[in-house]
Amino acid sequence: MDRYIKLGVNIDHVATLRNARGGFYPDVVKAAKIVEISGADSITVHLREDRRHINENDLENLLKFIRVPLNLEIAAQEETIEIALKNKPQSICFVPENRMEITTEGGLDVVKNFDYLKKVIVPLQKSNINLSVFIDPSKEQLQATRDLGIKTIEFHTGQYANTFENNTKSSAELEKIQECVAFANSLNFNCHAGHGLNFDNVVSIAKIVNIVELNIGHFLIADSIFNGLKNSIQKMRQIINEATK
Ligand code: PXP
Repeated sequence: MDRYIKLGVNIDHVATLRNARGGFYPDVVKAAKIVEISGADSITVHLREDRRHINENDLENLLKFIRVPLNLEIAAQEETIEIALKNKPQSICFVPENRMEITTEGGLDVVKNFDYLKKVIVPLQKSNINLSVFIDPSKEQLQATRDLGIKTIEFHTGQYANTFENNTKSSAELEKIQECVAFANSLNFNCHAGHGLNFDNVVSIAKIVNIVELNIGHFLIADSIFNGLKNSIQKMRQIINEATK
């Protein structure tokens, strides 16, 4: 049987577009409903400290109206953890946040923040929310994440995507991810991956056995301007399915 990779669609940039004028459109829930009927397995949103994408109201509405699981990306800060515990999305992904960055620039440094993370994850580990961390493909980060008792990781594919675009060293970056996915599998992690993926560079990532979920946002929302959200998602779904045959 073919492998099936779940596709999570990040709709942050629907909210970014809405926020550009501060009104009500494009409507984030409407986008989520289209994502849902277009073959996505989950919806991802990032509640940033500066709320530049979605806000708490969006989070509440999404949880009220969508049927697929919601994956909430947050910084590992007490304020956002409290919001997550109150709203109970199906999963949470800890991402690093730097106020000046345009997008998430790298993985969370679990090694460096180990003691802090160990403390703040306690209430999440007692809840039914599945917790993952967004990390760079690194064995040290994997070992530290395992020691925290976290079972799911999302590998940051941004570096691979950048080198793919510039045609420089993308094979080395790909090998790094391949090796880390194999290592993560030996440690029994569920492996997700995402960041910077598009119709072209997703193929090699989808071919990595043991990756079970991809989270893709910016490219899909950008492509949907020309092709419509449903078509963009269905095309991505098809490319991923082809790659796993
Ligand atoms: N995964 C994580 C953890 C992210 O932070 C992001 C960006 O918000 C994505 C996936 C999606 O990245 P992109 O928007 O580049 O597809």
